[in-house]
Amino acid sequence: MNRRNFLAAGLASICAPPALPRGPRAGEFALPVVAGRRTVPLGAVRRLIVERSDALLGRCRYVAEVGGQRVAQPTLIARRGERFDAIVENGLPQPTTVHFHGFTLAEAQDGAGFDPIAPGGTNRLRFEVRNRSGLYWFHPHPHGFTAEQVHAGLAGLIVVVDEEDAALDAALALGPVNRLALVVADVRVAAGVLRPYAPSAEDCHSGWLGNQAMVNGALDARFPVSPGWVRLQLLNACNARGLLLAFRASDQTVPFSLLGTDGGLLSAPSPLERVFLHSGERVDLVLDARPHRRIEAISLEYDPRLHVPGPMIMRPHPARVRFPALAAENICGPAGARRAGEVVPEGERLPLFSLLVEGEHLPLRTLPQHLSSLAEATALPDAKARRMRLDFSEQHGFLIDDTPYQLDAIAFGVARGAREIWEIKNSPISMPHPMHLHGFGFRVLRRQGTFGPARALATGSGGRLATDLGVKDTVVIWPNETVWLAVDFALPEDAAFRGQQRYMFHCHNLEHEDGMMMRNFAVL
Ligand code: C2O
Ligand code: CU
Ligand code: CU
Repeated sequence: MNRRNFLAAGLASICAPPALPRGPRAGEFALPVVAGRRTVPLGAVRRLIVERSDALLGRCRYVAEVGGQRVAQPTLIARRGERFDAIVENGLPQPTTVHFHGFTLAEAQDGAGFDPIAPGGTNRLRFEVRNRSGLYWFHPHPHGFTAEQVHAGLAGLIVVVDEEDAALDAALALGPVNRLALVVADVRVAAGVLRPYAPSAEDCHSGWLGNQAMVNGALDARFPVSPGWVRLQLLNACNARGLLLAFRASDQTVPFSLLGTDGGLLSAPSPLERVFLHSGERVDLVLDARPHRRIEAISLEYDPRLHVPGPMIMRPHPARVRFPALAAENICGPAGARRAGEVVPEGERLPLFSLLVEGEHLPLRTLPQHLSSLAEATALPDAKARRMRLDFSEQHGFLIDDTPYQLDAIAFGVARGAREIWEIKNSPISMPHPMHLHGFGFRVLRRQGTFGPARALATGSGGRLATDLGVKDTVVIWPNETVWLAVDFALPEDAAFRGQQRYMFHCHNLEHEDGMMMRNFAVL
């Protein structure tokens, strides 16, 4: 496939999903229709192949084998309680893993990079989906290669549904195209051609940025919707770019309501006009498309707070020297500057995708004011407080507690079932870091030192933003800000979780992740 066909195929894959076999039933309701890409029941996947789709450009894809069919770049859909049991096959020339971002899994299933699959190798993965309904995702996590592989297109969506989710869909009377699951990334396009991943020193330092949004594999993506409520579940899978998501129609702001965050539905919808969405984070939202013909999703201009110290040093990750890059066409010169025009700087306006409103009006329903039984975040008064600092080292770049990541080191142990408060402080001379915790959803208790424009969006107590009021697994911490999180380290009583389990806490700016801004801890 040549480059233009590759882009066209991305567009074609967002239309007309053929019927596929249903997965095992774990609840009483029917699976919802989720548009945007072909959906596959998670429990029906027998093989998950990670392969290159365009060696010249270094593009890659997931292929699910299900019921004798091969489905490229599927959106997996799962009822809470459904089981995954599949062989993962690594068709890349580099080591890889499949990490299920946001899922509560034992170390052996978490794909965190302790035990990568060698090129040509396979691994059997089995687990039960234990998380609340919401948008989760799967992506590679082999230390030193994560940024390149995710950028190559390896970011798969998982829509988890349960009774609360089904009740919401029924209340909104969503048509067959009005529920969308979307993965937003940014890529570099020059003269209509995608640029392969070849980061400069600047990219390694503050993160790799593109100049165009790619949504579900397509540039300039357009999704048809019916005039009615439109429910969007969105993932920011950009390597580094933070988005300030908003919707516009004929130069007017289209308001929306936030329904949920990384780990599922809020207790009540929150009316908003814009929302920050950083790398690894998800939002679930609903907007009324009836008054409009076309709605543009954009990232608004904002001050990205890049108070980034130098120097910028290009140090290839030690693991990288043993394996080739994904792209045959290597444009990587000696560590140089970004090419003019190939990067839209962080915080500049970026068009993301459009919704084309057409067809029959859907019945008018009022937005339910009760979405889930999620309780307000609280911390036990005797909860152990753990402090972490996000800092910069001239030798290593951005680090957690001044310590570069070591695969075999365990930074600290946490007692199984413990409830802790994590106090994470970002240094004033820094940049926003979207910090991600494996294995456990957490709640945001409070923010302090937040910069004005973000603070102005606070809707909750303690300076919390609307997205802070849900269950999170990734949270942005702005320069000079301190964020307090409540984490419950309970693990399921299941044989798979017996014994010590290692997890990670890291920055989800993928260049920072590969650049050692990551720590292991163990649940004992
Ligand atoms: Cu989405 Cu450790 O990553
Ligand atoms: Cu994760
Ligand atoms: Cu970071």
